Formats: sequence, structure tokens, C-alpha cells
Amino acid sequence: AQCELHSLPGNIECQGVVFPKLINTDILKSPEIVDCRKDDVFVASYPKSGTTWAIEIVSLLMNGGDVDANRAVAQAVRNPAVEARIPRLFQLMMYMFTILAMLIPRCFHLHKYILALPWATIRAINGTKQMERIPSPRVLKTHLPFKFFPTQAMEKRNKCSQDSDDSHIHSTMLQNVQIAIILLPLSLRNHDGKYPHGIMTLNFGFGDWFDHVLGWWAHKDEDNILFIKYEDMKKDIRSVLRDISKFLEVDVSEEVLSRIVEYSTFEKMRDNQSVKIIPDFTENSQTLKFIRKGVVGDWKNHFTVAQNEHFDAVYAHRMKGTGLEFEW
Ligand code: A3P
Repeated sequence: AQCELHSLPGNIECQGVVFPKLINTDILKSPEIVDCRKDDVFVASYPKSGTTWAIEIVSLLMNGGDVDANRAVAQAVRNPAVEARIPRLFQLMMYMFTILAMLIPRCFHLHKYILALPWATIRAINGTKQMERIPSPRVLKTHLPFKFFPTQAMEKRNKCSQDSDDSHIHSTMLQNVQIAIILLPLSLRNHDGKYPHGIMTLNFGFGDWFDHVLGWWAHKDEDNILFIKYEDMKKDIRSVLRDISKFLEVDVSEEVLSRIVEYSTFEKMRDNQSVKIIPDFTENSQTLKFIRKGVVGDWKNHFTVAQNEHFDAVYAHRMKGTGLEFEW
């Protein structure tokens, strides 16, 4: 995907998609540069769609329900976001702040937030580098729209399926069979509950929500893609877990399933520091919490009647004929 990068204030535009500035633009220009492995699993989603929750359950299904292993390492470190990249200088500045905050514990209350970002986490915000550091099987995160998704993850699989010589497949790391899971979100507001880009162009940093979701939906029938919806996870997490384990071809006992369900409840996740990429900036305000409320269709409570009507109309228009439906 060749593209011209247009720098906008705080954002970068590529092929009509507006991304956050802290992104690896090399991937946008050449998605094939991402080194994928045969057994990688990608959790792909639009931001704020329950990605963190999905990564926790997928990684637990993959590690046999070892919740202690998950708790011991920050999610950002063990499941890096492929496209994330912050400049070295910025990383060092964050680290200096961490040290400063340790020296002056009451320094503008910074310690509480910044200490939640140890060096390993800061360093991990360079997705392609961090990917190399972690052992297989990797569970990786991405918010990339499908057209920017690492092509190795899709193309190498095709080579695999056309090639019946198994030994050849196994001897080459990049003959990949990749699995992408996309979550379909309806968490449509920003952190502060506002819609800075307007409802017509729901843009939360990775392009328009409809474009993003429908871009992935177009590939829903590929055998290495499983769609799951946040709404279904809320309704019956156990059956979603079963679907995912079947898809990933991992055997999971009822006991392990129960452990994963218990570990990943909203309340447990809310109190689990290892899953918070952005620390909570306040004790009380729900709007600034990373794991905030965890309910379906909450935007209705933030919209005025007119906004709800407008949203319903836009939604009906954009979703018409796609076959994609949500229950809320
Ligand atoms: P709300 O802001 O609506 O509460 P992401 O991880 O993609 O940023 O998604 C964050 C959303 O997932 C938040 O939604 C958060 O509450 C919700 N979430 C995270 N863990 C959850 C869990 N265990 N159960 C239900 N919702 C969860």
C-alpha cells in the first residue's frame, strides 16, 4: 500500500485514513515489512471495542489458563500493538519522568500515573521491535484497518495452503498461518464522552469506524478470520470462549474456562493493573478510566434525542446491505 503521508496537527493521514501521530508510518507505507510467525494470533479491532478484554482471554486460552503468567507481565509488553511507535527521545523523556516521580513522590501526583508505566512498558511502545522480543506463540494487537494489516499474515497463509509439502512449511518461519480476530465495537464516544469528529465520521484515531469495521467484515469468510462482537462477549462470554478455542484449535477444559471467565470479569479487569495501557487518571470520574463502564450501548446515555436520531439514520444508511447486525 503505497501512500503519501500528510501530516496533520496531532495526526497523520494515509490513503484517506487519519491515524494518531505515534504510529509506525513504515507499516502504513509497506505493511509487508512486519515479520509474522506461523503461529501468531492477531486481535484486530477498532479502539475502545473491548480489545484489552479480548487479548486477555485469547492469551489465556493460548497459555492454558495461566492467570499468574498474565498478571506478572503488563499486557502492553506481552501483547504489543504492532503499529505503535514512539520516538526514542519521547521514550527517554517518559522514563526520566518516571524516575523523577519516584524521587519526588508527591510531584503533582504524577507518580501515581507515571509509575504505572515502567521502562519495559515504555520500551514496548515500539511494536515491531517488541514483537521480536517475545516468544511464540504470540498474541498481538492491532487497530489497523484491513488494508494496512501486515500482508504476511494473510499472504503467507495462502502460500501455505497451496503448498502441500509440510516440512517445507515448517522449515520456513515466514510461511505463516495467521489468525486474525476482529471485535466489532459499539463504544462510540471518546474518553471524555464527546464526539470531536462528529457522528458522521466517527473517528477515534484509526479512521472512520464504519470504514474500519466494514473493511474487516468484507473478509469475514476467510478461514483465518473469526469475528467476535463485544455484545456477544457481554451476553455469554463462555460460549465466545468456546468459539475462540475451537477456532484456535486449542483444547480447554471446563475448569480452565471457568478460571478464564472468573479472571476476566469487568470488576477483576478494572482492578488489574497489568492490563491498563493508559493508567486511570482519576479515582472517581468514569469518563477518564481506561476500563470505564463496560456496558453495551452506553452512547445512548450520552447522546441527546436529536443525536440519537441522527446516529440511527447514519447507522442504518452505512450498514444497509452489509449483513452486519448488532444487538443493543
Ligand atoms: P467502556 O469505555 O464502554 O467502559 P479497549 O480495550 O478496546 O480500549 O476497550 C475498552 C472498553 O472495553 C471499555 O468500555 C471497557 O470498560 C471495556 N472492557 C474492558 N474489559 C472488560 C470486561 N472484562 N468486561 C466488559 N467490558 C470490558
